[in-house]
Amino acid sequence: MQKNKPVKTAVFPVAGLGTRFLPATKAQPKEMLPIVDKPLIQYAVEEAYAAGVRHMIFVTGRNKRAIEDHFDTAYELESELEANQKLDLLALVRSLQPDDMNLSFVRQPRSLGLGHAVLCAEHLVGDEPFAVLLADDLMAGPAGGLPVLTQMVQAFERLGGSLLAVQEVPLDQVRRYGIVVGDPVDGPRNERVLKVRAMVEKPSPETAPSRMGVAGRYILAPGVFEQIRNQPRGVGGEIQLTDGIARLMRTQPVYALQYEGKRYDCGSKEGFLQATVELALKHPEVGEDFRRYLQGLKF
Ligand code: UTP
Repeated sequence: MQKNKPVKTAVFPVAGLGTRFLPATKAQPKEMLPIVDKPLIQYAVEEAYAAGVRHMIFVTGRNKRAIEDHFDTAYELESELEANQKLDLLALVRSLQPDDMNLSFVRQPRSLGLGHAVLCAEHLVGDEPFAVLLADDLMAGPAGGLPVLTQMVQAFERLGGSLLAVQEVPLDQVRRYGIVVGDPVDGPRNERVLKVRAMVEKPSPETAPSRMGVAGRYILAPGVFEQIRNQPRGVGGEIQLTDGIARLMRTQPVYALQYEGKRYDCGSKEGFLQATVELALKHPEVGEDFRRYLQGLKF
């Protein structure tokens, strides 16, 4: 039963510096690094599209031109592929721009933090609930199941408020996450939702209120913009999205969905390599050969 407005808009903050991936990110955005044959940002845009989102807003910075070009028409390439009758590749290139998908780009002039990046999209989002996807978190839905943002949109349409994707993380890793604590909410079988009571950004293992870490998928009520605008700087001197959501919680419900599926932290080298190996093993073209190759390696 649908109760709340559908989510039609998504914000992709892609203005970070990607320092953990230098020198690869010196002249190109981290979000254009490919996992097998697709850039990270395309995985995220496809996940949003599959969830029903049709307006994609990119918050970009310097060196991010490649992202705009990736989703734009490439006339020379297309006419070359057409002339050479490479029609499969032509269809692949064109599939990046479905007719009913709209793109907007806005600049974040300085990397002042994720909350600030989201605030830069306010005038494009308007007074509607919207999704935020961090493309460096690559989310794989469960085999044969729904993609993660689709799971979230379904829960959001029932619950309203705002919704965060969460997962249980090892205690020695809590300082990498926003950590939430909350109370279970009744819902359909298998759907694990908490009503969030408190939220802290990157706590130490000693002070963490739980091990429930926020992954890079959010559905937010537009009221979050006013909170971000009025909040002081947070951890690391940055304008944190977590702080804005924590403030929003004082007046509106915020829920957390323990999603089904797997998250790869592709902003770190380790997560990026894990995603590469696991997605390569599942890839229809190279998967089998790659499996044989790995099996033949001597460790
Ligand atoms: P990260 O902290 O993981 O990304 O921010 P980063 O700053 O690019 O990477 P490192 O830590 O230096 O290696 C999470 C997301 O928020 C975006 C980033 O692009 C990334 O998708 N972000 C972060 C912004 O858009 N603006 C900011 O000011 C900060």
